[in-house]
Amino acid sequence: MDPDSGYICVLSRGGRRGRARRRERSEVREGDAKSDEKSDPQENSPAIAKRDALCDFTHGGRIVIRKVWGGGGLLDVVFIHGRTVPQAGMGCESMTEGLTQILRTRGVVVARQSLPAEHVLGWRQAADDRYAEVDEIIAQRGPWAVADTLAFPFVPTASSLGLAALGEQADSLLQTLSSILAPTLEAALGGPVRPLMDSMWLRRQFAPENAPPYHAPHAWHQDGGLGFDYLGDADLVEGLLPMVTCWCPLMPCGRDAPGMAYLPNRPGALMALDALGALSGPGQMPNLLPGDVLLMMGDLLHRTHVTSDMKRDRISVEVRFVPADHPGRRGPWSGATK
Ligand SMILES: [Fe+2]
Repeated sequence: MDPDSGYICVLSRGGRRGRARRRERSEVREGDAKSDEKSDPQENSPAIAKRDALCDFTHGGRIVIRKVWGGGGLLDVVFIHGRTVPQAGMGCESMTEGLTQILRTRGVVVARQSLPAEHVLGWRQAADDRYAEVDEIIAQRGPWAVADTLAFPFVPTASSLGLAALGEQADSLLQTLSSILAPTLEAALGGPVRPLMDSMWLRRQFAPENAPPYHAPHAWHQDGGLGFDYLGDADLVEGLLPMVTCWCPLMPCGRDAPGMAYLPNRPGALMALDALGALSGPGQMPNLLPGDVLLMMGDLLHRTHVTSDMKRDRISVEVRFVPADHPGRRGPWSGATK
């Protein structure tokens, strides 16, 4: 299956005009659906590729084509099962319906270009500044000194920092994700949600040639297994946390920099360690951009996607949401402050 199928596309605004716009409209008509003729003819021309213009996936044996709105919140076109959904008043409700449907079915969906660029740039700058500080500590005193120096959790074998390392930008990230995706998260998890405050991370995944010897990519796992006692006899179904992870790359990834691979299905339970270790196959590996959000249900199997020819490192952030009344569970590196 095409790894780029099954996505909701959230279109960014501005950029291309004229011929590109006409081509986009042509592509939409080729999809046996009607384009949005009410779009602003100049400023609101969506900057999209053909893959984004005709984002199709198979759902229940039908081809579903969707095209949703940009960072400003204005809907362009939504196609569901070959018909155009009425434009007026769609907004978040439309995006929620689309994202939730895919998320529930496949356990994963990409909300493309759903985060405002100026916010993403702010998070990236804060991340770069913090990792520059981390690298200086490592150069002077070694990786194990970082956790003793900084006031946030630090995982030396993965260069992961508690999201608080972003300072005020961490609040910006949390508020942005919540404001844009809360309806989807609530629909997916069946009610009000809350972030797991001690399991929010800033991550840096190295290209192979840049990776320190003590680093390794993440193997197949399920985020819903956070803090689960895999060596005990707890139930693998009941042990699955109801959770959605919002994973946000702060730079392009998946082709030249490590990205994410996943198996788009819903096991509905945690997998035992031996079963996880026996998984084979590459999975699906989307190319992602800053501004995209990869939403993953807690039972989705995923891992770091990295190849030997990747040359660039990747920085990303992630926030996990659970039902508001769920106690959550602490992982081995959890800690609100340390
Ligand atoms: Fe994960």
